Amino acid sequence: MAPSTLICDTDSWQNLKTHVAEIKKTHLRDLMSDADRCKSMMVEFDGLLLDYSRQNATHDTMSKLFQLAEASHLKDKINQMFNGEHINSTENRSVLHVALRASRDAVINGDGKNVVPDVWQVLDKIRDFSEKIRSGSWVGVTGKPLTNVVAVGIGGSFLGPLFVHTALQTESEAAECAKGRQLRFLANVDPIDVAKNISGLNPETTLVVVVSKTFTTAETMLNARTLREWISSALGPAAVAKHMVAVSTNLTLVEKFGIDPKNAFAFWDWVGGRYSVCSAVGVLPLSLQYGFPIVEKFLKGASSIDQHFHSAPLEKNLPVLLGLLSLWNVSFLGHPARAILPYCQALEKFAPHIQQVSMESNGKGVSIDGVVLPFEAGEIDFGEPGTNGQHSFYQLIHQGRVIPCDFIGIAKSQQPVYLKGEVVSNHDELMSNFFAQPDALAYGKTQEELQKENISPHLVPHKTFTGNRPSLSLLLPSLTAYNVGQLLAIYEHRVAVEGFVWGINSFDQWGVELGKSLANQVRKQLHASRTNGEAVKGFNFSTT
Ligand code: F6P
Repeated sequence: MAPSTLICDTDSWQNLKTHVAEIKKTHLRDLMSDADRCKSMMVEFDGLLLDYSRQNATHDTMSKLFQLAEASHLKDKINQMFNGEHINSTENRSVLHVALRASRDAVINGDGKNVVPDVWQVLDKIRDFSEKIRSGSWVGVTGKPLTNVVAVGIGGSFLGPLFVHTALQTESEAAECAKGRQLRFLANVDPIDVAKNISGLNPETTLVVVVSKTFTTAETMLNARTLREWISSALGPAAVAKHMVAVSTNLTLVEKFGIDPKNAFAFWDWVGGRYSVCSAVGVLPLSLQYGFPIVEKFLKGASSIDQHFHSAPLEKNLPVLLGLLSLWNVSFLGHPARAILPYCQALEKFAPHIQQVSMESNGKGVSIDGVVLPFEAGEIDFGEPGTNGQHSFYQLIHQGRVIPCDFIGIAKSQQPVYLKGEVVSNHDELMSNFFAQPDALAYGKTQEELQKENISPHLVPHKTFTGNRPSLSLLLPSLTAYNVGQLLAIYEHRVAVEGFVWGINSFDQWGVELGKSLANQVRKQLHASRTNGEAVKGFNFSTT
């Protein structure tokens, strides 16, 4: 096998390295005064507007980034993904979450067959089942309708569905459809999370959905056994058949657990856990809560971005632009973190979901061919909705470390409030901050400006803002199910773009295994010590 070329050994990478010195000489204050530059750094697609003019980047930077994309064969890699090639080479799998939201008549091949009919078979099954539950034609063992759902799952089997649920909860059409229903998520194996999630619920009116791709995840299986006992001790063991269903790729283990395979909703190896929210993992619990038609809108939004990602030229391609700019910040300007700042409370679970999508995907130390990377891939993602974040960690972003920020704004609020006698609405107030913060970061405040304001000299250094801190703004027209789907797909593909250019495998997650196997050893010792009083052995002094 020919030795693989690392992206950092290409001329395009070196050109960008050299270009850093040029960019360091510029300040965003000056870059922002060039209206033509700013105009060219705004891209619209399907109602969304991306403005990346506040990045430390010029036209020259962008063309060098596009050259890097070419050098990494980005377009080919995107096509390989959509063509179902086994780009997740360490697990010998395709990566086809785009097929989960493809239209019924689309053709997407994986392992020699069109996978779209299989996807729609499960979607149709979810539509039927959720209608039965919601209409009350499927009832619990005591004849009561199942109005409450507890979804048990962790990681990718939890964070995406929670994000979408939180986003839809306050959207008027979705909220109307969810009237009288509750959806809860049990993830942590901590018994406190069990107590919290069953508190106030009656097993007679509760449906438990066990969500696990592998159906072996220790936390999920223990929580599933705990809720199985909660149901069977209240209603008898036969109640499990009516009150528990599952989502998994492992239908054999579902049956072994005691859930009727007829009540299992499948997905496939070609869906990575963190990319599974558009499979039954998210679609089932969300359809139970909101009805399938709302969830279908969410899938359509994601699909619109998939098609754009697949076909738009690099310069107009939202996920590509976002991915390349992240790479520029991480690998060239040396900013390893990124703040995700939605000015929308309904997106409060967006950053936690993207943390997994991004950090589990790109937190890698070797290339896809197993060569140790001489540069650091991946980034540290965190975030909170504005304006809460402003009163928490923004101090560091304004005057401490440089952390590129994603400002996400929604033009029209899900829940507008207009107070009598006040012209500026509550949402206007929120959006004033959305528009002000990026400029505060970009322009800063100079000593001269402070002196003009007669600030006492000893305070001038403390009140100076260096500015020149990069951000980008993404404006959505509203936060409907469709827009939530768009947002999800943009970030999923952004992460893929970064991984494709870095030359890593963004679709495996071997780094989570070691901790799991060490926990197994500790569990065995706890078991031995509880059953036979055996002394703890085989660990280091600290663990013992
Ligand atoms: O531990 C990490 C992980 O494997 C994630 O990738 C996955 O989303 C999560 O665990 C849950 O896995 P499962 O759906 O198989 O229970």
